[in-house]
Amino acid sequence: MAVIETAGLTKQYPGVTALDSLDVRVEDGVTGLVGANGAGKSTLLKILLGLLPATSGSARVLDHDVRTEGPQIRAMVGYMPEHDCLPADVSASDLVVHLGQMSGLPHAAARERAADVLRHVGLAEERYRPIGGYSTGMKQRAKLAQALVHDPHLVLLDEPTSGLDPAARDDMLALVRRIGTDFGIAVLVTSHLLGELERVSDAIVVLDGGRLLRSSATTEFLHTTGSLLVEVQGRPDADRLLGQALVDAGLAARPAEGRMIEVDVRDEHTRDQVRDLTVDLGLGLVRMQERHHRIEDVFREGGAGRVQPV
Ligand SMILES: Nc1ncnc2c1ncn2[C@@H]1O[C@H](COP(=O)(O)OP(=O)(O)O)[C@@H](O)[C@H]1O
Ligand SMILES: [Mg+2]
Repeated sequence: MAVIETAGLTKQYPGVTALDSLDVRVEDGVTGLVGANGAGKSTLLKILLGLLPATSGSARVLDHDVRTEGPQIRAMVGYMPEHDCLPADVSASDLVVHLGQMSGLPHAAARERAADVLRHVGLAEERYRPIGGYSTGMKQRAKLAQALVHDPHLVLLDEPTSGLDPAARDDMLALVRRIGTDFGIAVLVTSHLLGELERVSDAIVVLDGGRLLRSSATTEFLHTTGSLLVEVQGRPDADRLLGQALVDAGLAARPAEGRMIEVDVRDEHTRDQVRDLTVDLGLGLVRMQERHHRIEDVFREGGAGRVQPV
């Protein structure tokens, strides 16, 4: 069963089509929802929670209809909103206990659960202080904790790394990953930064202007964007010779830094082809390594030009 499934989902605000006939399927695991600002990510999450009506089309979350079964969905789904929504004069501990009780937990269970999730997100002693004095990173952790308190099957995390410095962002991403792996909770996490979700997501959905640009497993993304850096020796023009041979063999190859050749990986035979051609030319293979490739490379090729790389 898909965790989330939409069909022809459309949302129009006056003068703006925020979602345009979207067909998306999200499975268990961690899914990254990526798109530039204004792509429709937050709108999609609010519709999935049953908080915002769609203009047309349909969506099911954990096999419930968002149009008619919002309360059932919200009982099983945690939501971390994008914008600051925390009361300044309450401690994270009191807030999360309170929200746990609102979700139906008895007081003692809510306290226990709140302590667990706050510890899990890494809020220690400061959880007893008023949220108004928290750093952005601590506020994001508190928002994450409240999304987890009622033991959801799925969490929707809207830009959890927003406003964080690189170290805090890495911590938050690791936390997001652990929610999926250690707790077995399905995660849909958004970001306007393409590069950051590929490390923690099993699948990536890309929105562009309210439309689905791409949806696939992260490994597939990386496979299609992968390239090899090859260094050969044996003749002064060894790199040029190999580059030409690769192009003649129908591969996409180009000169790279340090007299190396960069070859796009076409399929699982590409490595063998490079090695065989090198041997055929009587050259020596010094090294062949995968270039650190990133999802954003897909977009540089001319997909969503507006998506910002990290
Ligand atoms: N309440 C609203 N009223 C009118 N337009 C809105 C509203 N919320 C969002 N939009 C518009 O819908 C589009 C998608 O917004 P949003 O879902 O917030 O995108 P994202 O979260 O990807 O940045 C944008 O053009 C935005 O300006
Ligand atoms: Mg948003």
